[in-house]
Amino acid sequence: MIAAGQALDSVAHGQALDQALRELPRETETAERAAAQDIAYTACRRLNLLDALAARLLAKPNPALDGLVRAALSELISHPERAHAVVDQAVTATAGIKRGAFKGVVNAVLRRFLREREALLADLTQDEALRLHYPAWWIARLRTAYPEPGVAEGIMASGNQRPPMTLRVNRRRADVEGYLATLAEAGLAAVQTGPDALRLERPMPVARLPGFGAGEISVQDLGAQYAAHLLDVQDGMRVLDACAAPGGKTAHILEAADCELLALDRDAVRLKNVTENLARLGLSARCEAADAAKPADWWDGKPFDRVLLDAPCTASGIIRRHPDGKWLKRATDLGQLATIQRQLLDALWQVLRPGGKLLYATCSVFPEENARQIEAFLSAHANARALAADLPAPYTLGHRNGQLLPDQRHDGFYYALLEKA
Ligand SMILES: C[S@@+](CC[C@H](N)C(=O)[O-])C[C@H]1O[C@@H](n2cnc3c(N)ncnc32)[C@H](O)[C@@H]1O
Repeated sequence: MIAAGQALDSVAHGQALDQALRELPRETETAERAAAQDIAYTACRRLNLLDALAARLLAKPNPALDGLVRAALSELISHPERAHAVVDQAVTATAGIKRGAFKGVVNAVLRRFLREREALLADLTQDEALRLHYPAWWIARLRTAYPEPGVAEGIMASGNQRPPMTLRVNRRRADVEGYLATLAEAGLAAVQTGPDALRLERPMPVARLPGFGAGEISVQDLGAQYAAHLLDVQDGMRVLDACAAPGGKTAHILEAADCELLALDRDAVRLKNVTENLARLGLSARCEAADAAKPADWWDGKPFDRVLLDAPCTASGIIRRHPDGKWLKRATDLGQLATIQRQLLDALWQVLRPGGKLLYATCSVFPEENARQIEAFLSAHANARALAADLPAPYTLGHRNGQLLPDQRHDGFYYALLEKA
């Protein structure tokens, strides 16, 4: 619990949660690390409520206890049946802080929460942001974007759940049917959910999955697997993946066709993940660290047949995988990201051949980054037309004009397929 508390403290100081968990002290045991991850992710999904509870229960803020108390409160909310064990665990963890000086405080705070739980939660959750576990600006934007009864609430509820774990089978090394049989032999249940996709009944560490090291499979959400299918890459084509890292979509494209692919990413460290992922899967591409918005720096002047722009965005569609995102992002980020997306679209349109296709993708549910962005692009570019973006039956997913909303099957994504006249 102490490790989960440390990770929550780091998020409060602006660090990403996955990074904070990676940076836990080296001597943290594997099992402790896994437990910390579980507690921290759950707590992060309701962090504003935990902040409000801690403010009520602690007489004054205590930086040494902030993370630990939030982690313990979150566990008490999730597991009322284990209340006493959770309190004991938290109090024991406190022994390591300032030679146990705060043991009494933590014990008193958590026991008070147990006594007053109903009244405290009833009072605090009158505030909608605390009840829904999102910042007020986020709720307001979703309500404006999705005014139909229950839709915005559905998106938010889905964003507070644990995500499904979907695998992509590398067609060059295995097939879905065969891999399902391999999983069944290992006692793991799964169902096919897309042409190359299967969903595990229970999420598990990748290293324990058969064939992962041998490049037979990758972890990739079903919504993300739309990209390679929609882009419709044929053998021999010149393809640009403009924002490629960590390379999930790059790899899927290369598994499907023998094409000449240039993978760009501005972040050289993240780009290394593309190289590593491709090597594991037995694939290759030219990888270059560059700003996709400045073709003069990396383009040889030969037009591309296909361009994938998986643009930087608020990641509001994958918030259940990165719950820190809703607390680290600001309302102003939305406008800034929309400007960057527009610049990328304008720049990359130039490198596409006439008759070629550009797929614009985000993992967002905010229309400012999606439908509004594409409407503006189409009205500014007479040589652009939008094509229907869908998968063949039986894998067609219900989307609204390219907008996939998160549900039990897939995360929230947006796709617009544009053809150049
Ligand atoms: C949504 S992620 C891409 C995910 C990736 N396509 C995949 O499927 O694994 C967006 C990426 O865009 C990169 N990026 C942001 N601005 C960029 C720019 N101007 N040029 C190139 N890459 C950029 C970020 O570093 C980040 O890796």
